[in-house]
Amino acid sequence: MSAPALIGTDLDYAAHCLQEGKLVAIPTETVYGLAGNALNTAAVAQIFLVKGRPHFDPLIVHIPDIDSVERYAVTFPAEARLLAERFWPGPLTLVLPKRDIIPDLVSAGGPTVALRVPNHPLTLELLRKTGLPLAAPSANPFGYISPTRPEHVAAQLGDRISYILDGGPCNIGLESTVVSFAGERPEILRLGGLDPEEIQQLIPELSFSLRQSANPMAPGQLDKHYAPSTRLVLTGNIRQYLAQHQLPPKTVLMMFHHRVPEWPAEQQVVLSTSGTTIEAAQHLFAMMRELDSSGFDLILAEQAPETGLGPAINDRLHRASYQESST
Ligand code: TXA
Ligand code: MG
Repeated sequence: MSAPALIGTDLDYAAHCLQEGKLVAIPTETVYGLAGNALNTAAVAQIFLVKGRPHFDPLIVHIPDIDSVERYAVTFPAEARLLAERFWPGPLTLVLPKRDIIPDLVSAGGPTVALRVPNHPLTLELLRKTGLPLAAPSANPFGYISPTRPEHVAAQLGDRISYILDGGPCNIGLESTVVSFAGERPEILRLGGLDPEEIQQLIPELSFSLRQSANPMAPGQLDKHYAPSTRLVLTGNIRQYLAQHQLPPKTVLMMFHHRVPEWPAEQQVVLSTSGTTIEAAQHLFAMMRELDSSGFDLILAEQAPETGLGPAINDRLHRASYQESST
């Protein structure tokens, strides 16, 4: 089979690459994933290598439907099934006790597997066509901003993967919400594209376990993550911050909704013209990338409101702003 251009919509070629143990970037509704056959340890090892990801960080396995869960998980508790029925295909990842068929490399040596049915027609078709579970972390170098467009993947990993399946821009823009059913009580491990209140409506006793240590179970929970190269500062009160700090002349403001009238218009962007956290989430990563390559010395970001997807956005901004303590 001859190789088409790097970015395209050739599902047969994408399926062929995956069956051969090669890596393909896949579109999802959240972010683009760097996919390989989850049952092929050589392909999985290649994912860690290309991404520069430490092996203690487990990977999410993408499946085509709810019925596939029992192939990879030993148990499927009623509450987990309830969430799956309500939110799949969608930005929800379930952590469940794994079956032996899932390689230890995928689960980082742990006893659980993270499963998700992504909501993108091309990727769902690819999953059905190959019949393979696809391990896929976000398709960015470890620690950098997640990709929400095929060009983002091409710019950073284009020379190291076989194909990028072009599904257009991701319409949620934040990674999936990760919920674990491996412990005594269901817990949210990572905030993401699903509003936690919607989950709590179905599972009132849901708790939060958003780790922030340097050796976490969840890599998205590392202190510094999703980070641009340009220094990013996060503030809840932009006017007060501007009044109290001497900023470099090439400072750009990344505002949630409203501009600051007294700051130059060409040094400001707005995440949501409609003022919704859903729209801000869609734009967040693409905006951070664009600002990161525009020659600014500082990105001053305004916090999103703490409603809807706001806490997930603020989580990403907080990690993007994390500074190594310097002495
Ligand atoms: O939306 C998404 O989740 C995207 C798309 C491509 O599906 N994927 C993604 O993968 O964000 P990644 O590798 O960047 O983040 C995976 C998250 C991490 O926070 C990781 O800790 C958690 O899922 N995870 C994976 N397996 C786990 C497990 N067995 N136990 C606990 N957390 C797990
Ligand atoms: Mg990631």
